[in-house]
Amino acid sequence: MGPSLWAVVAAVLAVVLDLVMRTVHGWVREASLGAGRRARLPPGEMGWPVVGAMWSFLWSFKSGKPDAFFGSFTQRFGRTGIYRAFMFSSPTILIANPEGCKRVLTDDDSFVEGWPKATVTLMGKHSFVNLPYEEHKRLRKLTAAPINGFDALTTYLGYIDRTVVSALCRWSEAGEVEFLTELRKMTFKIIVQIFMSAADDATMLALERSYTDLNYGIRAMAIDLPGFAFHKALKARKKLVSVLQGVLNERRAAAAAKEFSTSSKDMMDRLIEVEDENGRRLNNEEIIDILIMYLNAGHESSGHITMWATLFLQENPEIFAKAKAEQEEILRSIPPTQKGLDLRDFRKMKYLSQVIDETLRFVNISFVSFREATKDVSVNGYLVPKGWKVQLWSRSVHMDPEVYPEPKKFSPSRWEDYLPKPGTFLAFGLGTKLCPGNDLAKLEISVFLHHFLLGYK
Ligand code: HEM
Repeated sequence: MGPSLWAVVAAVLAVVLDLVMRTVHGWVREASLGAGRRARLPPGEMGWPVVGAMWSFLWSFKSGKPDAFFGSFTQRFGRTGIYRAFMFSSPTILIANPEGCKRVLTDDDSFVEGWPKATVTLMGKHSFVNLPYEEHKRLRKLTAAPINGFDALTTYLGYIDRTVVSALCRWSEAGEVEFLTELRKMTFKIIVQIFMSAADDATMLALERSYTDLNYGIRAMAIDLPGFAFHKALKARKKLVSVLQGVLNERRAAAAAKEFSTSSKDMMDRLIEVEDENGRRLNNEEIIDILIMYLNAGHESSGHITMWATLFLQENPEIFAKAKAEQEEILRSIPPTQKGLDLRDFRKMKYLSQVIDETLRFVNISFVSFREATKDVSVNGYLVPKGWKVQLWSRSVHMDPEVYPEPKKFSPSRWEDYLPKPGTFLAFGLGTKLCPGNDLAKLEISVFLHHFLLGYK
């Protein structure tokens, strides 16, 4: 046989092997559903064993083409907006249409959290990514109200304003800074203040460094071997636990000696004190997991969105000018007796709010949410089988031209007098898991952009 014939034989064998692997894997994962339920599954396939659609997922994000992953489903299986695949070691239903996302996010009877193993291990089994319904409701009530709402935001605004002003001042004196790194430090300082009052610089630095490593592992495959992101992230989690344990020990000691006053309670104090209906208090492990989750969720996304909003403003002179004019107007309306911004000024930032919403839509920092079906459910006419994982692709909803015309155009004015229909704007999620830090995040980003627009470029 000549070399070209060998090549043809090898190619045919590869195609046959590929087909056999896919068919066998599909059968192994789906046979137990029975013919009737199987016929109601959305289009898609399980792919190869172990990896499923993971290569394609990781490749598209790592190569800077995040929309290519979902796009490949649309190309291969049509515009159903709901598909099946094998991801993070589980048969999974992917949903990317507003009605389907809304249906899942607002049905707590049929869907529970379904995050990949890496996320649950790194955030902690007592964090919100893994709590039973009632426990989640209780701890969410305890922690969400002191973050959002008029009174809470009024309390934090002064600190946010001072932190932003001093950061911008420092950077402009430094000449050159790594923007995202500095923004993450800034948002981290703010969330640490809210949760643990003023932590000392050494604690802050130790926590912040570990979060950088932790984050690389959160959406990775849970492979605990040297060289893999998850392995490094696990080490980072151990460091975080040990630093937070130290702070918690000090707090408990101070509480036992009645050293803290009720007026200066932060979130850590609240978590130490809370009791359930049987008088049970949270143990150290539970408090630490909740803190690890909140401190992470509370600075990463805000830091990234602040960076992107700044870049988009800088890249679009007309949008910059319009946003700046609005801030100048607000500045003029502030009475000379008022120190810094107050919440009424923030409420006047209509155009800036559109810039931020458009940045959230466009960047999609939280691009997917994970759930698991607790029973057979019909979504968009297709079966989501009991026990299967569900991924809600808000990124694809936000980039759908039928929902947002010209989705790749950065256009804050699309938000003018526009109230998105439920399920079409999922930057902060929806339902009982809606981001409890949404208003705080918008406040932080707005305060930063206010000062940036007025004094920097
Ligand atoms: C621009 C900034 C932010 C974005 C884009 C964002 C996005 C999101 C999204 C999409 C969810 C829902 C996830 C799901 O449905 O499973 C969520 C949940 C959450 N976010 Fe945020 N977030 C931001 C800022 C914050 C801040 C500042 C905090 C802390 C104060 C925070 C704390 C949380 C927590 C604790 C959850 C879990 C809620 C629960 O399970 O009940 N986030 N966030």
